[in-house]
Amino acid sequence: MGASTDLILVLDQGTTGSKVLLLDKTCRIWGRAYQEITQHYPKPGWVEHDPEEIWTGMVALIGQVLSGIDVRRVKALALTNQRETIVVWDKTTGKPLAPAVVWQCRRSVDICKDLLEKGYNDLFRRKTGLKIDPYFSGTKVKWLLDQDRGLREKAAKGQVCIGTIDSWLLWNLTGGKVFATDYSNASRTLYYNIYECRWDQELLAILGIPPAALPEVYPSSYQYGTTVAVGQLPAGVPIAGVIGDSQAALFGEACFRPGMAKATYGTGTSLLMFVGEEPVSPPEGLVATLAWGLGNKPAYALEGVINITGATMQWLRDGLGILDDVTKSAEIARSLSGNDGVFLVPAFVGLGAPYWDMDARGLICGLTRSTTRAHLIRAGLESIAYQVFDAVELMQKSGIKLDFLRADGAAAANEFLMQFQADLLNVEVSRPALREVSALGAVYLAGLAVGLWRDTGEIAAAWQEEKRFKPQMGEGERAELIRQWKEAVQRALSRN
Ligand code: G3P
Repeated sequence: MGASTDLILVLDQGTTGSKVLLLDKTCRIWGRAYQEITQHYPKPGWVEHDPEEIWTGMVALIGQVLSGIDVRRVKALALTNQRETIVVWDKTTGKPLAPAVVWQCRRSVDICKDLLEKGYNDLFRRKTGLKIDPYFSGTKVKWLLDQDRGLREKAAKGQVCIGTIDSWLLWNLTGGKVFATDYSNASRTLYYNIYECRWDQELLAILGIPPAALPEVYPSSYQYGTTVAVGQLPAGVPIAGVIGDSQAALFGEACFRPGMAKATYGTGTSLLMFVGEEPVSPPEGLVATLAWGLGNKPAYALEGVINITGATMQWLRDGLGILDDVTKSAEIARSLSGNDGVFLVPAFVGLGAPYWDMDARGLICGLTRSTTRAHLIRAGLESIAYQVFDAVELMQKSGIKLDFLRADGAAAANEFLMQFQADLLNVEVSRPALREVSALGAVYLAGLAVGLWRDTGEIAAAWQEEKRFKPQMGEGERAELIRQWKEAVQRALSRN
């Protein structure tokens, strides 16, 4: 493979940082750059990002990756992003009108409670597959527009763009020519009808969001437009793949058969199961979502959204100060032969699937005089696997059997966690050769749009596993641990 190989540039804009990779068809990496982004916590429970920092940071990363590369080889650009985070900007100046409200931000809890009290949950669920929860974009947008009457008026006149991070980057990459998003990102807003594939006028009216401010929605594998020259990025590169990062990981894990599932172990964990092209109603406790759009066909997935998983380990490190290096957690957990009855329920921002309790709060239980920091660290790691177990259990109840789980994200590197996950689920957990599966999924989608790959069959055939974790735990031990975990969760719920 020589210096003339076609390349795809992929931008992966995540919650903690931005990454740019340059890949060829064999998934050889020709360039990689990463930079953390600043987290702003202006009030307890609030999380904001600076959209300008995200854009200028991305341009700098693109410059690093393209330096020394013949840019004529870049055949397409792909985009994947943190989902639900909302950006509002001026259509004329292109300047943000507020900080980006991040998916983790809880500022719209009261709006959600009000909508729930008014009995809207079923309506939103029937149309969007989601739940009324601050996690999704809709109530964040309502909060922003409620704060500023002028902003809502400007938005109604079509002078404002309200979009997710992909739309913001796409707008800037095309010099303001393209204001669009893809099916997967639209499906996380709480105002996109995933069964009719259109912005839902009734839900928009309830939330008070002017339709004139919303982007066009296209399939995830689609030629969105071409780049303008910015920094090292040349003009004219087709932007051919756009997809939210969790769905991108499902694609990058080649989960193309109904029933195939993956867990992305990040700050939180998104468990996604591919369902296929037939629309699916979400079982209680889970959400239904658009996986992606290929051709003109949308595909569906079920998702278990878990708010806090990897963040628990950061909290043990930064909040409690009992872990200097998160990567040492596996070794520390293994220094114990069991959890000795200590459980940590990391309900720091309430609990997501399957409990959906905004007011649940975290707890540690089962402490005795012989409890050590190792117990807390082990309980933190185990809590990640228990929460994934809860979501999988619910998926299985809807009649879909999980044959195995594909695992990615930073914490998939933790061997203790992967083994414990396989033990709890009693299914094999498989780890891919290329861990950056969100970027890979976006690359595949762009590559399909520009003819680098023929179809998903070709992608699935080339997919490579790095390691497989087989269940080893006895049934009795497994059942007892799960029983104790569920008891601990009951204590954390606000309803008790
Ligand atoms: O739904 C939020 C998710 O897309 C964020 O992903 O990888 O940026 O934490 P990540």
